[in-house]
Amino acid sequence: MSHSAWSSNVKFENGQLTIAGTTASELAREFDTPTFILDEDDFKARASAFVNAMQKSFSGATVYYASKAFTCKQIARWCNELGLGMDVATGGELEVALSVNFPASRIEVHGNNKSLSEIDRAVEVGVGCIVIDSIQEIGRVADAAKRHGKTQSVMIRLNPGVEAHTIEAIATAHTDVKFGLSISSGVAWDAVIEISKHSQLDFRGVHAHIGSQIFNMDGHRLTIERMLDFMARYRDEFNRELPEVDFGGGFGIVYTAEDAPLAIEDAVAQIKDAVVNGCAARNLKIPHVAIEPGRSIIGPSMFTLYEVGTTKLVQLENGTRNYISVDGGMSDNIRPGLYGAIYEAHLANRTSSAPNTPSRLVGKHCETGDILIRDIDLPSDIAPGDLIAIPATGAYNRSMASNYNHVPRPPVISVRQGSAKVIVRRETFEDLLHLDA
Ligand code: LLP
Repeated sequence: MSHSAWSSNVKFENGQLTIAGTTASELAREFDTPTFILDEDDFKARASAFVNAMQKSFSGATVYYASKAFTCKQIARWCNELGLGMDVATGGELEVALSVNFPASRIEVHGNNKSLSEIDRAVEVGVGCIVIDSIQEIGRVADAAKRHGKTQSVMIRLNPGVEAHTIEAIATAHTDVKFGLSISSGVAWDAVIEISKHSQLDFRGVHAHIGSQIFNMDGHRLTIERMLDFMARYRDEFNRELPEVDFGGGFGIVYTAEDAPLAIEDAVAQIKDAVVNGCAARNLKIPHVAIEPGRSIIGPSMFTLYEVGTTKLVQLENGTRNYISVDGGMSDNIRPGLYGAIYEAHLANRTSSAPNTPSRLVGKHCETGDILIRDIDLPSDIAPGDLIAIPATGAYNRSMASNYNHVPRPPVISVRQGSAKVIVRRETFEDLLHLDA
């Protein structure tokens, strides 16, 4: 079975891509290209599906949106309205949430090297939880709590030693990585002891995140087992049960028709099964359960719209390749270059009856590796002025965008029921020059 990479309100009508009633051509005319287009209802439906599935499975469960996937003020407002928490990994992500009065109590702070000022700010504004990711950080958080006269809730990020089935650069919990405190080496337990020495810290529970773009739940299930073992040991030694557990994110999405992710409800059902059975086996009460999906909420909800600027038919030893250059590239999508990520692309402004031809979709940057799609068959008559759309670019595209070659970063336009609005405006040359002395 092939799967669609498009968000739920995208349709192709007479060759025109339409999203929630607006055509790609209209969007390009009004907002220019390259542009990220967000399907607002699709984003909200995915966010709500996670919240509903989790709350049906666990009383009072929390879904923290992993804001690193893509955040801005409007996303934070929507997360607030829809009852999600926010996972922030830096001071910058924290400030986005705070700027729209996102309740600090529903913010969880991550990071393997939180600065002293990031810790201070998080404690000062009263974030719900700081997830400890090193032994050094424990005293730093305790000091900040003392300074502000507060008790700070903390969790420990465990490294459960689980190999996630994904690419190495985005797997996070095998042994040789910078994240988390290893259960098997004993350092996670050292952290428990260290936390117990600080009366300003309220130790709430354990966290693990094993990787991203994962298609089956075996890794999560094994992780849950190891986390529950750790919690049972804590109960036995401290005579108190840890009230919270957080299983991170990592749920995969469709980038191309070959990708077959689990439905949100099925992934959550597997978590429920592992937690309920695992707690029963260890005689633990079911804790408060949280997850932190990023990609699986925002990823499918956006596509990138480009305009073709040039085409070039290059002779190869055994055929030809049509190089189709668009007006963005590695500055708005570094994932093919960084991870070998594979995307689909579609002509978005018209139908073509020309035969498909071996093509390479490339950007406008000054290097050969500026490739968006290495091998794709596209109509041979694609020409300057045509629009090309790449689906499933919501997660880790705008958020990892750069200004390489002093290219301004694209805007994000949200579309709903026939109306489109700017939620992040296009950068200008003036914005870029603003930083220079
Ligand atoms: N929680 C923690 C602690 C994380 O480190 C991450 C992602 C998430 C949640 C969200 O994971 P998701 O549900 O989005 O898979 N830049 C890479 C992905 C890096 C993921 C980093 N951590 C990419 O473009 O594929």
